[in-house]
Parts: sequence; structure tokens; C-alpha cells
Amino acid sequence: MILAPSILAADFGRLAEEIAGAERGGASLFHLDVMDGHFVPNITIGPPVIKAVRRATRLPLDVHLMIENADRYVDAFADAGADWVSLHVEALPHLQRTVAHLHQRGLKAGAALNPSTPLVSLEEILPELDYVLVMSVNPGFGGQAFLPASLDKVRRLRETIRGRAAPAQIEVDGGVDAGNVKALVQAGVDVIVAGTAVFGAGDPQTAARRLLEAAR
Ligand code: DX5
Ligand code: ZN
Repeated sequence: MILAPSILAADFGRLAEEIAGAERGGASLFHLDVMDGHFVPNITIGPPVIKAVRRATRLPLDVHLMIENADRYVDAFADAGADWVSLHVEALPHLQRTVAHLHQRGLKAGAALNPSTPLVSLEEILPELDYVLVMSVNPGFGGQAFLPASLDKVRRLRETIRGRAAPAQIEVDGGVDAGNVKALVQAGVDVIVAGTAVFGAGDPQTAARRLLEAAR
């Protein structure tokens, strides 16, 4: 299991310090939430901030695109330094084309599912994915409560991946904290995203370490 802190809950005025702290606490990947005010009711960051984070860490960057027409922007995010890119199946009618394009560029490609989007929507694309991002809140904001049904969704996805011998890792995003992280790992999660639990209170180094300890 690896920890991917979401910088959405970080202090953007001290981003490099926040990132360094989380890294010292055991982060292995940074999760960057891109929102356009259309696909989700919030606006966050774009390629310039990804570029700044790229300069602040050597860890890989996981860019979660919560935007319409993501296919038009993936190259800009790749150029800015993204290593992993997740695409919402609800927002992209030609998902396979964009997944193939990301692979051509040497990036990891993931499909993200809203809480109400069934796993069966991955039926055809699953073998091509490097990861599946299971949203455990409705995307748009940090600091929301974990939706408990996500746990069973992760379990079923783990079974499907095993049954089909697919290479995809499972990432979970939203409301993860020290109280639910262990159950998520037991359900089969490989990548834990956490915003508030890492950057929400005081020192990200201690918070990241605590979360990793709680997962064991
Ligand atoms: C929600 C984002 C999440 C969010 C997680 O739309 O995709 O990555 O930043 O934040 P917490 O951990 O606070 O729920
Ligand atoms: Zn996210």
C-alpha cells in the first residue's frame, strides 16, 4: 500500500514545504486534483501548479482530472510533469483513445469512478488500465465524509481484477483517515489518497506517518 497525499488540503502559499513534510512522513506519490467548475462544482488548479509541484519533489505525480473534455488537455498535463493521469469514465466518451494516448506518451493511465458509477462500466477497458480510482466521496471538494459503500465496491473490484488477471492497481480517494484506512487496505486498496488527513491539521510529516501506521 502506498500513500498519495492530495495537495488540495495543503497551504498553497507554502506548497513546497508542505510537500517536503509529507514526503518525510512516507508519501510515495502526490495526488493533484484538477477541477473545472463544469464536471464538478469547484475550480482548482491547472498545468502551472503541476509544473511547480514537479519542481518541488522527485516523487511521481498523480493527476486526477475532474474536467470535461479531458482528452484536449492531457498533453498539457503530461508536459507539466504528470506521471499518472486518471480520467473520469462519466466525462469521456472515448476513454480508450485517451488511455492509449497516455500510454504512447509513457504515462500511467487510470479510470476514475464516481460513487454512483458501477464497476461494470470498466468491463471493456479494465485490461488496459494501470489503475482504477474509486471515489469514496462525490468529487468536488476535500474534507467530505467517506461513503461506507465504497468499501464493498473496492472488494468487488479486487475480485474482478484477480479473476481477470488484470494489472490494474486500486486507488481510493475521499474521506480517508486513520479510522478507515486499515479496512480499505484489507479490502484490497493499493494506493490511498488523503488530503485533510495529511494536510488538514498541523504537521504533514507526523500526519502522513500516522496514517501509514494506522494502515498496518
Ligand atoms: C475530491 C478529490 C480528493 C480530495 C480528497 O474531489 O478528488 O482527492 O482532495 O480530500 P480528503 O482526503 O480531504 O477527502
Ligand atoms: Zn482526487
